[in-house]
Parts: sequence; C-alpha cells; structure tokens
Amino acid sequence: MEALEKYLPELAERFYSQIPHHPNAFRVFSGGDAQIARLKQTLQAWAKALFCGVYDHAYAEERYQIGYRHVRVGLEQKYVISAMGIVRAFLSECLLLEFPASDVRLRYARAVSKMLDLDLNLMCESYMHASMQNLRALNEHLERANRDLAEASRSKDEFLAQVSHELRTPLNSILGFTKLILDGLTKTRDEERELLRDVFSSAQHLLGLVNDILDIGRIEAGRMAVRVEDVDPREVLDSTLPLITIPAHEKSLELCDETRNTELPLVRADEVRFRQILLNLLSNAVKFTPPAAPGEPAGRVSVRARVLPASDAPAAPDGHGFLRFEVVDTGVGIQEEKREAVFELFVQGSAGPRHGGSGLGLAISRRLVQIMGGAIGIENGDAGSGTTVWFTLPLAPNQAEQVAPFAHEKPAARVRK
Ligand code: HEM
Repeated sequence: MEALEKYLPELAERFYSQIPHHPNAFRVFSGGDAQIARLKQTLQAWAKALFCGVYDHAYAEERYQIGYRHVRVGLEQKYVISAMGIVRAFLSECLLLEFPASDVRLRYARAVSKMLDLDLNLMCESYMHASMQNLRALNEHLERANRDLAEASRSKDEFLAQVSHELRTPLNSILGFTKLILDGLTKTRDEERELLRDVFSSAQHLLGLVNDILDIGRIEAGRMAVRVEDVDPREVLDSTLPLITIPAHEKSLELCDETRNTELPLVRADEVRFRQILLNLLSNAVKFTPPAAPGEPAGRVSVRARVLPASDAPAAPDGHGFLRFEVVDTGVGIQEEKREAVFELFVQGSAGPRHGGSGLGLAISRRLVQIMGGAIGIENGDAGSGTTVWFTLPLAPNQAEQVAPFAHEKPAARVRK
C-alpha cells in the first residue's frame, strides 16, 4: 500500500481543486489560499494514516476530531460524504496505474474501499453526536417551555379565580344595597343616600376592574391601539392629581407635586393612556402607604419629573430624549425579587387583589408605556422603606433638552394634606 503514498500530493491537489466548488464551501473556507495550502498538507497526513494499518482508539479519536472540525465550521454531512467520493475515485485510478490487473489489485481495491468506509463512518460519528446534542438541547428547551406554559396557565387560573372573587364583591354590594332600598328597609332619606353612595362607588370599582380586564384582553390579542400626539404633561398632572387627593386625604397622606414650579416639555403620548398610567401609579402609591401611627410623621406620595436628554439614555426612535416621571412613596415598599414580577401579567406582587383592584394595573401600564415608546421600572424602596416607580415618555420633536434636576420645592408644591 505504501506504493500509493507518492500519489498523495496529487490527491491533495485534485481534492482541493474540486471541493471549493461545493455549494457552501465559500462559507467554510474563510482562511483564503494560506488555509487551502495548509489543508493540502493535512489531507496528505490524513491519507497517509489510512495506510498505516493501526486502527486503534487513538486513530478513531483523531478521525472523530477531524469530523468534529467540519461540524464546527458548519459543513453539512452530505458534502463530506460526496467529497469522500473524490478520494475514492482518485485512489482507484492510482491502483490501476500501480498494479497490473490481478488478484492483488482487487484485494487492494477492496482494502482501500474498506478503509475509506471506516474513515467516513468515524467522521460521520461526530455529525451524529452533534445531532444528538442538538436534539438534547431542543428537548430541554421544549421541557422548559412546557414548564413555563404550565406555570403561566396555573397563574392564569389563580388570577381568574381571584378576579372573579374581586368582581363578585362590588356586585354583591350593589345588589344587596339596592334591594334594601327597593324593599323600603331604609328609614331615612339620608340613610338611603348613604347606601346609594356605596352602590355608586361599588359600580365605579366594578367598572375599573372590567376596564382593566378589557385592556388586558386587547393587549394580549395585540389589539391595543394608542393615538400618539404631542401632549402637555402639565395638563395631565393637573387633571390627574385631584382624582387622588380624596383617597390620600382619607389616609392623612401628604400629596406633593414636585413639578409644580418646573416647566415641563411636551411629550409624545396618548393622553388618555398617559393619564391612566399616572393615575395607576398614584393609586398604588396611596394604597400601599399606610396612615401614620400617632406621633409619626405623615406618609407621603410625591410626583417628580425630569428631562433625560437623548445623549443620556437610549434615544427614542426619532432620536429625541425622554421625560421621566417618578411616583415616590413612603409606603410598605416592595422586595427586590418581586420588582420584575409586579409588571408581569397574572402575577401578583404586593399589588394583588388583597389590596383591592384587579392587580393588573402595573402590567397594563408597562405595556402602554412600551407601546408609546417609553419604559417603566421600580427603583430603590426596599421592603419597608417606600417605593419609587418611574416611567419615561419620548419628548415631542423640538423640545428643549436641558437637564432639569428633580425639583425639591416641597412646601410650595404641596397639593393637599
Ligand atoms: C472526505 C472528505 C474530507 C476529508 C477527508 C477532509 C479532511 C480534512 C482534514 C484532515 C482537515 C484538518 C483537520 C484538522 O486540522 O484537525 C480538514 C479541515 C477542513 N476541511 Fe475538510 N475534509 C473533507 C471534506 C471537506 C469538505 C467537503 C469541505 C468543504 C466543502 C471541507 C472543508 C474543510 C475546512 C474548512 C477545514 C478547516 C477546519 C478548521 O479550520 O477547523 N472538508 N479537512
């Protein structure tokens, strides 16, 4: 068999004159002429080992590694198989030249064919191994996805059970109180009005829950439409803060608009959704800030705003900066590990129905902010030391981008105590 060794340089030339024409060869030969010159040498070394007759573990491992190099460069197995055809054809030509027609040539031809089969099998083993690894990874991925789906479905079921309960409570009040009135069981006109007020606020609460559920339905179906235009944040703040003054007052909380003496630039937003987000954050802040114990300073909920210039933050799609709002409270806070979860659908952070409401507000707010091109998050506020929820909205074009620090003009900014 050594007689064939003198043909190996020619084999290498023939091989590398043909395989660069394989359809995806241009992707795998990235090293130019120098790589091809090197590969001509390694191909000869490979072919020489074919004839050495020692097919032990080290030999198999070496072939496996050569196959593995091809897997790694992204060469499909079928090209290795067809390239082996080039080697096979060349070596049978050499046998014809080297040996006269005889049993010896036939024996050598069979031996060469077996050696090439063996090598091809060894090289292809790495392809099988790589496929198995891929399958295993895919399987793990599917198992994980399956577990996530089961978890999501469980959260959704729990959520449905909780929301159904939440819906029943105000409905029962509405039914119970109206029945009392209809059955004439109220003694005075004042008593009747008191019950009607409860009916009204239960109906309002119910409407809020139904609206949240409808919003989530739209968001989940990808049908949440927003009408983005230039909006004056001052108007939104001025029309939203009064809605929260009564609940804040009932808990003796200070409500501070720290933006009051600052000029705020226009933002690109859907005004109704902008108000909804702000109201949601403010309601949460009031809900989770307990009234002060006797002798303690009053709890406090503040709104701040400042401009983030385009150079300071990942710019909005049109290259403008953002206006960042913060709702800061001195309430019960939220643990670090729960901060992401409160923005997820059907996952209850501390803002769950235990405190009333659908528990969907933050998830809805996040989607709305994202649709409008901004971001939302929770900062500092470890459990017990209050929470800061912030969100950003893109600045309208041509808005001044001066950096305005958060205003701290508490006494003048106080809305109501
Ligand atoms: C019977 C078929 C083939 C044999 C015997 C063979 C042999 C070899 C050998 C011995 C090496 C060197 C491996 C090392 O240094 O560890 C190598 C590397 C390489 N082969 Fe092949 N080859 C075959 C088919 C192909 C085909 C069809 C292509 C492309 C169309 C190809 C592309 C390459 C490339 C790009 C490398 C370099 C890989 C790297 O740098 O890691 N080979 N081949």
